[in-house]
Amino acid sequence: MSRTVLRGRVLSFVSEPQDRDDRDSYRYIEDGAIEIEDGRIVRVGAYAHAAGDTVIDHRPHLILPGFIDPHIHYPQMQVIGSYAGALLEWLDKYTFVEEQKFGDLAHASRIASRFLDELIRHGTTTAATYCSVHPESVDAFFTEAEKRDMLMVAGKVMMDRNAPPGLCDTPQSGYDETKAGIAKWHGKGRAHYAITPRFAITSTHAQMEMAETLAREHPDLHIQTHVSENLAEIEFANELYPNYGDYVGIYEKFHLLGPKTLLGHCIHLSHRETQVLAETQSVAVFCPTSNLFIGSGLFDYDRMHDNGVRIAPATDVGGGSSYSMLRTMDEGYKVMQLRNQRLTPLRSFYHLTLGNARAMSLEDRIGTLAPGMEADIVVLDAASSPQMKLRMETVETLEEELFLLQTCGDDRSVVETYINGVPLKSGLAA
Ligand code: GUN
Ligand code: ZN
Repeated sequence: MSRTVLRGRVLSFVSEPQDRDDRDSYRYIEDGAIEIEDGRIVRVGAYAHAAGDTVIDHRPHLILPGFIDPHIHYPQMQVIGSYAGALLEWLDKYTFVEEQKFGDLAHASRIASRFLDELIRHGTTTAATYCSVHPESVDAFFTEAEKRDMLMVAGKVMMDRNAPPGLCDTPQSGYDETKAGIAKWHGKGRAHYAITPRFAITSTHAQMEMAETLAREHPDLHIQTHVSENLAEIEFANELYPNYGDYVGIYEKFHLLGPKTLLGHCIHLSHRETQVLAETQSVAVFCPTSNLFIGSGLFDYDRMHDNGVRIAPATDVGGGSSYSMLRTMDEGYKVMQLRNQRLTPLRSFYHLTLGNARAMSLEDRIGTLAPGMEADIVVLDAASSPQMKLRMETVETLEEELFLLQTCGDDRSVVETYINGVPLKSGLAA
C-alpha cells in the first residue's frame, strides 16, 4: 500500500503550555516525517521513507495539525467589513439583510463553496459554522463540505422573533427542520450537526423549549449560541427573559449548557455566570477580531482561565474581520495586552490545534499529529512576505518563529492545507 510522507519540521502539542517555554507541552521534530495512508496518520517520527512512498518535501516549513475555528458564520461572507456601529445595528442593517438570500439553494451553494475554499486557503480544516435559518443553507453547506471531505460542525440557526419575517422560523418548524437536518447530515461522512438557537433575543420561550427538547433527544450533539457580547444586547435579553437572573441563566434554565456547548463572546459575564460556565464545562469562545471590530468589549481571558472556564479562540466572520486564525491570535494577544494579560506563542498555537480540538470534544480525531489521527494538516512558512523573511534572519527559537507567524502571518503563510490526507490549498484558484 502506497503511503504519502510529508517531510518537514513537525510540531504538535500534547498538553496546554503552562509557561512561555514549556517544552513538555509539545513534540517537535526538526527533520520529521508524517506518514499518511487512507486519510489517516500512520506514523510520526524522524524522516524516513520506504520504496513506493510518495514523499512531499516541505522543508524548511513547519507542519502542524490544521487550524480549528470554533465559531464562524458562512452566510456572512458578504457582510464582512460592513460599516456598522455596534452589534444590534450591525445585525439589523447588514447581517439580517444578507442572510435572507440563503433560502435560495444556488446562492447558498455558491457561498458555501467559496467559504470552504477560503478556510482551506487560511489553513482552517474544521469549523463550527452557523448556517442561516433556511434548511437549504444547511444542505448547501454540508454538500460542499462533503465534496472536500472536511470535518465540519454546523446547523441552521433557530430564530423566531426580533428579525425580519423572511428570517423567522417557528418553534415547531425550527424543531422539525433541525430534526430533519440531524437525520440527513449528522454522522454522514465527517459531518456533525449542531443545535443552533442563534441567541436568546431571537428565540421565544417556546423556541427555547424546543431547543431544550432537541438537546435532550440528542445529547451527543454540539450546541452553539451567543451570550454576553454587547451591553445593549444583554439589557435586551434580560428584558425579554425577566425572571432568569442573568443572560447565562437563560441558557442554564433551558438546560442548554454543557461540555459540548460553544458560547460565542462571553465578554461581560458576572462572577455567577462565570462559575456556571466552569461548573457545566461549557466553552467560552473568544472572538477578538469581531469584538474589536463591532466594539463589543475586551474578553477577560485570565479571569475565565483562573475560574476554570474552557476557552476557545475563533474568527466569528463576518463580525470578525479575518478568516485567518493567525490574525485572530494576533488580535487576541492585543486584547489581552490591553488587560495587562499575556498570551504566550506556545499557548496560541496550542489553542489553534489541540486546544480547540478539546474545546470541540474532537481531540480523539483531530488537533494533533499522531498515529490514528485524521490527516488534517497545515504547512506554515514564517518567511512568507518580504518583511517576514527579513525578520526571520534574526529569529533564533521556535517560540520566536511562532510569534512572528502570529503577529505578521496570514493566508500567505499557509503553504499547503491537507484535508484527510489530500493537499487542497495548492489546487485552489488564486
Ligand atoms: N449575536 C447573534 N447573532 C450574531 C451574529 O451573527 N454575529 C455576532 N457577532 N453576534 C451575534
Ligand atoms: Zn457569531
